[in-house]
Amino acid sequence: MRHFIDIADLTKEEIEGLITLAEDIMRHPDGYAQICRGKKLATLFFEPSTRTRLSFEAAMLDLGGAVLGFSQADSSSVAKGESVSDTIRTVCYYADIIAIRHPKEGAPLLASQRSSVPVINAGDGGHNHPTQTLADLLTIHREKGRLGNLTIGLCGDLKFGRTVHSLITAMSCYEGVKFILISPEELRLPGYVRHGVLAGKNVEWVETRDLECALPELDILYMTRVQKERFFNEADYIRLKDSFILDQDKLKNTKPDLSILHPLPRVNEISVKVDDDPRACYFKQVEYGKFIRMALIMMLLEVQK
Ligand code: CP
Repeated sequence: MRHFIDIADLTKEEIEGLITLAEDIMRHPDGYAQICRGKKLATLFFEPSTRTRLSFEAAMLDLGGAVLGFSQADSSSVAKGESVSDTIRTVCYYADIIAIRHPKEGAPLLASQRSSVPVINAGDGGHNHPTQTLADLLTIHREKGRLGNLTIGLCGDLKFGRTVHSLITAMSCYEGVKFILISPEELRLPGYVRHGVLAGKNVEWVETRDLECALPELDILYMTRVQKERFFNEADYIRLKDSFILDQDKLKNTKPDLSILHPLPRVNEISVKVDDDPRACYFKQVEYGKFIRMALIMMLLEVQK
């Protein structure tokens, strides 16, 4: 039995296999419509979500399986003081696979250590979000036809941005990738990613606070939200929240084949007018998220066509 807690749990070959499978599901959805009949997915969301929870649930339903779970901690017995461990031990009796999101870093790892069924990390605090990375990789692969030889600008909250940490870990495995890390000083990439991931790989990277200077060089711009829920001090959030706002003017001096990604939700960091630009890919990421999660569920449940 395998869990999926960190993007590094998968080899490059396995990630590429999931991308191939997701693309086959997109082309031939009917061929997969009953493949998980009789299986149940539990979504245990201790933190708010729109895309991740609903795409997991849609994924399992589109595979012919069933879903159960909760969308907020206070509708479960956690509100009465139950531990994550006891919650997981309970849910294992009712479900064949579990997707868990939790505000505490490491909670999905702990859950996997207590579980008798596969556990998927659906986002843990400001740490990792590996299934978003699978959706991002599928999007990049479909837009660019490759995952290597790309200059990627990551902009916004790189400190608490769990999608950024997982994406850097995955993309660092590919040749010719260069990262431009664009953030305010207070929201720089944490040391454990800078030293633990980037320094250990043959990856080129630079840090800057200037989005406009970085833009002309980019093949991919990955915007992120400054996350109010991660700040201890509201004044700091208010000071930093509008550090970067992408609008049509800023896009004038960019590559014609730039791809603009964002894991969503967005607040102000991308003007809605950018949505009409054919280079905006963030709703494609939403769409592809369901298909790559279908592929992941099949892999972890060891079901094949
Ligand atoms: N990208 C993402 O995790 O979105 P949700 O918070 O809506 O699940």
